[in-house]
Amino acid sequence: MTRTVTITDNKTGRQLECPVSEGTYGPPVINTQSLYKELGMFTLDPGYATTASCRSAITYLDGEKGILLHRGYPIEQLAQNSTFLEVVYLLIHGELPTRQQMDEWDHSIKMHMMTHEHLARFYSAYRYDAHPMSIMAGVTSAIASYYHDRTDISDPDNRLITARRVVAKIPNVASKCYRYASGLPFVYPDNSRSYIENFMYMTFSWPTEDYEPPAVAIRALDLLFILHADHEQNASTSTVRLAGSSEANPFACVAAGITTLWGKSHGGANEAVIRMLEEIGNPSNVPKYVAKAKDKNDPFRLMGFGHRVYKNYDPRAIIIREACHDLLDEMNLNQPLFEIAMELERIALEDEYFIERKLYPNVDFYSGLIYQALRIPASMFTVMFALARSAGWIAQWMELMEDKDFRIGRPRQLYIGEKSRDYVPIGER
Ligand code: CMC
Repeated sequence: MTRTVTITDNKTGRQLECPVSEGTYGPPVINTQSLYKELGMFTLDPGYATTASCRSAITYLDGEKGILLHRGYPIEQLAQNSTFLEVVYLLIHGELPTRQQMDEWDHSIKMHMMTHEHLARFYSAYRYDAHPMSIMAGVTSAIASYYHDRTDISDPDNRLITARRVVAKIPNVASKCYRYASGLPFVYPDNSRSYIENFMYMTFSWPTEDYEPPAVAIRALDLLFILHADHEQNASTSTVRLAGSSEANPFACVAAGITTLWGKSHGGANEAVIRMLEEIGNPSNVPKYVAKAKDKNDPFRLMGFGHRVYKNYDPRAIIIREACHDLLDEMNLNQPLFEIAMELERIALEDEYFIERKLYPNVDFYSGLIYQALRIPASMFTVMFALARSAGWIAQWMELMEDKDFRIGRPRQLYIGEKSRDYVPIGER
């Protein structure tokens, strides 16, 4: 028997039986598609806290148990055994590649890494001190213009080429964001290098010297990128899907995702964590800031704490925390901010306010510390996140384009404005 949920309007007595669908995991969903037609009502769910916006087979997360799966594979296993480029293949294609598929994938990404030479001029339109996220969003949107007429988004082959272009060109765009702000010349990709190494080479090499990124840094970045690659229907991914639903150019959709990620409630938290730790300044000041975070009259929140879905430790944060310890040990770095972070974590996790609300450190609490140890400036942290997440965005965009229920996204509203009234000429107001 099909499971249903009955909705009764106690004003009119009218009833609607809504079918319930079960996924592989996770809470079942009530299908309310006929609600307006049958009962003349919409649903209201601020922040979409209980609304499933799509069916998806890419990523699953269980916030109560702290589980994260990509195409069924636990994030811990991918972090331990895989590489970012292999995880991107998995997200886009649905299966892990064979050796031959991986070699072809790696080669095809290298072949798409260059950007049109004119694109480099676009950067110079930005002020010297522009935030790199602003530059990244603008330049990524500009890439749409190079492929617009030649991209048929209804063609699966064209979509796959687009996905490869996104994965290949975004590191190039991101590296130039950094170099423009630092006054350094742009660097072409070097196809003899791996994906992560190439990104580091384009970003950090000097024209006057040979450059070999430290192995420990390559490993740390590869891990961070794996952990950031996708996270189901978060704000930026939902933005990419909504933009994609209007059949907009996929690069423009990714640019919309970058813009949404920038905010400090989302990907911008990694930069905000470092700024907060700098402001705290010393482990002895931690109690004062914890008290501020708990004070309802103070807008201050502990950056890097809390998550809409995780009501348990973010599994990515557990992996990053360990990697952060290892990296600092291996590089023999004494990072004062790390000490403050550990003290903050200790005090907050013992505090009734945070325990009651299930506020745990999230992925952004530690990622900034790793980036800082790698000497990446704070304003670039969210760019790093966007680079990795663009893989998830384009995988989700591809899934959207193949969805049998594909139609433009168009939420409704509860109107609370003025009733209809007559226009008053300006002299009579
Ligand atoms: N510090 C202090 N109190 C907090 C915090 C925090 N970081 N986060 C949530 N709360 C409190 C909040 O005040 C509320 O308390 P009360 O019930 O007394 O009103 C309760 O916890 C629930 O918070 P909420 O705002 O309803 O939760 P949300 O699901 O809407 O917001 C969040 C989730 C991540 C935006 C929020 O926890 C936050 O602002 N965290 C800090 C920013 C951050 O670290 N963002 C990164 C998120 S993870 C990576 C990503 O998404 O990119």
